[in-house]
Amino acid sequence: MEYTEKVMEHFMNPKNVGEMEDASGIGTVGNASCGDIMRVFLKIENDVIIDASFKTFGCGAAVATSSMATEMVKGKTIQEAMLITNKAVMEALDGLPPVKAHCSTLAEEALQAALWDYAQKNDIVIPGLEEPKEHDHHH
Ligand code: FES
Repeated sequence: MEYTEKVMEHFMNPKNVGEMEDASGIGTVGNASCGDIMRVFLKIENDVIIDASFKTFGCGAAVATSSMATEMVKGKTIQEAMLITNKAVMEALDGLPPVKAHCSTLAEEALQAALWDYAQKNDIVIPGLEEPKEHDHHH
């Protein structure tokens, strides 16, 4: 299986790893097929994502996509962040091996779950955002 240079770079040297104490929204999702878990933290001010981080119990591809996804959302408005799909993240990484494509959906889902959490906490509606399927009530 072949990983691109960008995937390797983000896997070996992931950006934005760690918990965020004062996160505005936290999203946790799991991948049913492999059992891996992804958690994304967002700090949002005036509709702009000013910081993002993640923690994962996931494979290398999940680490690389989350690293890239958290880099991509920083400085974006909520509406712009909604456009960051797993496809966009994969493109930014110059692609993933097909068997690893599902791993990148974890990053997208965790991102959206974090936005959902933020919307719930602030009593706002984010157009186009749906309630995450898997919701972690245990943290
Ligand atoms: Fe589980 Fe990649 S194998 S996220």
